[in-house]
Amino acid sequence: MAIDQSGVWRFRDLLPIVDDLEKVVTLREGNTPFYDLPRCAKAAGIDWLLAKHQGMNPTGSFKDTGMTAALSVAAQRGFEWVACASTGNTSAAMAAYAARAGLRSIVFIPEGKIAWGKLSQSMDYGALTIQLKTDFDGCVKILGELVKQFPIYLLNSVNPYRLEGQKTPAFELVEQMEWQVPEHVIVPGGNLANSSALAKGFAEMHELGLIPRIPKISIIQAEGANPLYRSLQENGGEQLTPVVANTRATAIRIGNPASWRKAVNALQTTGGWCEQVSEQEIALAKAEIGAEGVGCEPASAVTLAGLKKLVAQGKITAEERVVLILTGHTLKDSAYTIEYHRNELFSDAEKAELSVSEQSRHAAL
Ligand code: F0G
Repeated sequence: MAIDQSGVWRFRDLLPIVDDLEKVVTLREGNTPFYDLPRCAKAAGIDWLLAKHQGMNPTGSFKDTGMTAALSVAAQRGFEWVACASTGNTSAAMAAYAARAGLRSIVFIPEGKIAWGKLSQSMDYGALTIQLKTDFDGCVKILGELVKQFPIYLLNSVNPYRLEGQKTPAFELVEQMEWQVPEHVIVPGGNLANSSALAKGFAEMHELGLIPRIPKISIIQAEGANPLYRSLQENGGEQLTPVVANTRATAIRIGNPASWRKAVNALQTTGGWCEQVSEQEIALAKAEIGAEGVGCEPASAVTLAGLKKLVAQGKITAEERVVLILTGHTLKDSAYTIEYHRNELFSDAEKAELSVSEQSRHAAL
């Protein structure tokens, strides 16, 4: 059966969301690789570092694990249309899974603010792809109005079934570590759903007695799109007034995340931290992950950049085992990579902000 080839549905006993497994919509997602990153570990100052590469999913991002679950529910409930607002990866995944299910899909994306590869995917998979002259947060608002008026199934990460699918990489990760539990798992933070989905996966395994403890989950944001980081610094984690977000890691260019409370809860229950990283730190980390032959998109690289900070602050020690969740494939945003390696990503003023040692590390990659 196709579902037996899916890394999500092989955990179907822990996914009680569809009645008829014959109707599951799958592209054989999950079962993603686990890579060691010895040179990145050294750069961060730790002994043991692995990456769970969610960019190796069928549409190139972790969103597939959630979309197989949510589209299966949409199909079973008889919806004809599904929709999402996106910074590019959700829309690519939704469009693909909707097409597999024979449903129509509508995508709202912020004009000029997503990577071309992602835009092309939703077109290729046949979604009605609409670019709006606003940012991601504006797209979410407009879509919210649309779904109130029409029978369209909303597939943004507020959809609970997406989180059910997105919890399964936690199961795989522990399985790949032969039922050992890492001390730390580090994820990028955008709309803040993934951190809570993974926390749920670990908590369920713990409740079932499959693992003796849960790892600390830390969330890393870009400095220009850091609402969770700022709120924890300034306001005890209470949501602040949204500000316009800006980062070249366009996947996480989000000022008003939907799953705010869930993410705060994930940090509190697991004991992890939230950090922010600069554009230069992201670019360097991305190049370092690339130089291991693994590669990822810019938003995923915040994990390594954040790890370095957490080690420097003494929150992660050299002998602790760390897993980075790489959320998207390097080919998602090839323009970024080319600009970086042609030395065109940053202005002279931005480059001048770097210390001499940072400049030489950037130059070396
Ligand atoms: N990494 C990548 C590659 C992403 O595409 C996203 C989110 C994140 C990290 C952040 O995950 O939102 O669960 O905190 N992308 C969404 C999208 C918002 O529309 O594709 P999160």
